[in-house]
Amino acid sequence: MRSRALRVPRSDGEAARRALIDAGSLRTDLRIRVEAEELVLPVEDGPLPISGKVTDEEFAVQEGHEGPRRYQDLVAVSAERRALLPRAFDVVGDIVLIRVPDGLVEDGPAIGRALLAFVPGARLVGADEGVHGADRRRSLRALAGTGGWRTLHRENGIQIDVDVERAYFSPRLAREHARVAHAVREGETVYDLCCGVGPFALTIARDGRAGRVTTVDRNPVAVELLKGSLARLRPKVPVEVLQGDVEQFLRGAKPVDRAILNLPLQGIKYLASVARVVRSGGSIHYYEVVERSEIEARAMNVVERAGGSDDWTIVEEREVHAYSPTAELRAYTLRRTVAA
Ligand SMILES: C[S@@+](CC[C@H](N)C(=O)[O-])C[C@H]1O[C@@H](n2cnc3c(N)ncnc32)[C@H](O)[C@@H]1O
Repeated sequence: MRSRALRVPRSDGEAARRALIDAGSLRTDLRIRVEAEELVLPVEDGPLPISGKVTDEEFAVQEGHEGPRRYQDLVAVSAERRALLPRAFDVVGDIVLIRVPDGLVEDGPAIGRALLAFVPGARLVGADEGVHGADRRRSLRALAGTGGWRTLHRENGIQIDVDVERAYFSPRLAREHARVAHAVREGETVYDLCCGVGPFALTIARDGRAGRVTTVDRNPVAVELLKGSLARLRPKVPVEVLQGDVEQFLRGAKPVDRAILNLPLQGIKYLASVARVVRSGGSIHYYEVVERSEIEARAMNVVERAGGSDDWTIVEEREVHAYSPTAELRAYTLRRTVAA
């Protein structure tokens, strides 16, 4: 059967597949094709969460695919209300999270039952009411299914202990976790600041090139979850897991080769302190929510906040995903000038 397709390098395949599932953009009725260099993914019409070569190709139909193509077709509501259902949802382990628009709140249980039936292996469906507070915890309302909010999520070949309610985690960052880990060179020392349940640190430790990784987060629940994941992963790279405030940690921190700061709405206030602990020639992976109309000006501002253009250059900049109709989550890689 013919379908719109997205071609990505095989090395990015797993993260691309996950990003497409999370955005509701992967066609589950057709079989993904593996070629020598590329993965060919059948995708829905509309905007895609990741870039790649978009083509039109023939795919084999998924064996045993008798069910509907979209979860929306399983929701027992009028056609008028069905048209308002969100297309995207997130899958974290065996939990499905969906943002239910205000006008459809009363259809929550029907949406929950439909997703439970549609997503293979789903145990619990929750209405995602956004993250809040300094720990960036998520407000959730159970829509269908059983059990609690703790789960084991698989990403980039790693199992991550997650509690979707009590510690921050987003499956939409899988590609970023892999990209940053890929950039780490042999023997580098790394700080994962505001690490949450530690997906960056776990991926870097699993890859095995870093000399040492130190993680810091203020949320004790996130810290305990990360320790659990590490106990299972048993990486060769030493990983030190600290609970506390990032600013306080940075005051006495030794210089490192690479630092990650993913605190998108407030991280800017720590950027200068992070920059001070990164060695000559070292890098910072910094994340921020940016209004699309301000992208150009913001890059200059980020460099200034890090310490100025004599010391810092943005060597890579990309959209991670949309954040609102007018804003996006952006990833910046800053490199420190090598001292003369
Ligand atoms: C958006 S989450 C990112 C988590 C993780 N880096 C990831 O990519 O999944 C931000 C994290 O920063 C932590 N945090 C917020 N303010 C902090 C602070 N002042 N010191 C240490 N951690 C902080 C929160 O507890 C939360 O886990």
